[in-house]
Amino acid sequence: MKIKSAEFVMSNSDVAKCPKSMLPEYAFIGRSNVGKSSLINMLTSRKSLAKTSGRPGKTQLINHFLINKNWHLVDLPGYGYARVSKSAKKVFQKFITQYFALREQLVTAFVLVDIRHNPQPIDLEFMQWLGENGIPFSIIFTKADKLKPKAINRYVDAYKKVLLETWETMPNYFITSSTKDIGKDDVLNYIDGLNAN
Ligand code: GTP
Ligand code: MG
Repeated sequence: MKIKSAEFVMSNSDVAKCPKSMLPEYAFIGRSNVGKSSLINMLTSRKSLAKTSGRPGKTQLINHFLINKNWHLVDLPGYGYARVSKSAKKVFQKFITQYFALREQLVTAFVLVDIRHNPQPIDLEFMQWLGENGIPFSIIFTKADKLKPKAINRYVDAYKKVLLETWETMPNYFITSSTKDIGKDDVLNYIDGLNAN
């Protein structure tokens, strides 16, 4: 799929105020600093459509982007960032869970995990929660540029092993790097296929 246009629509902390249109949408979620906003920029070939930062906790709201005038990408705050105050964390968690529980337009979530880490309880728990709530998701491994191909396979295999302890099949997954443009066509073609259904 070719991205012809990508526009920022709105930011807010209330799912009830998100765009009313029924355009299909795809949301990026994962730990703070995993590369959600960078991935949105990579997919859309826009340098700073979504705001990124080396410091975790950059994205604090639900951000809608309109792509090719007919679907939305959604950038969300990260979970699991220890330095955000407890009360701020609660507010985030509330609107993130409300977003996933209530947003009818959501076609699928992409749960991002840093390919360099062994499976983390917080990510596994979040995937479990999505599964229990019937919310489809794929996994996106990020920062693949940081590892050699052999190590990439090793980490993906470790992830598969852990997930297959609770899931019947391995969820769909993608290997990406926003700095090296890896996985861009795979993710975009996947979205294109879902949009066509
Ligand atoms: P929050 O909004 O704070 O939750 O973070 P985020 O998940 O949106 O992460 P963001 O895209 O802001 O990126 C965090 C840091 O990781 C930045 O310093 C990025 O440059 C870096 N980064 C993101 N993706 C990649 C990647 O594919 N490779 C490398 N090497 N660095 C990356
Ligand atoms: Mg972000």
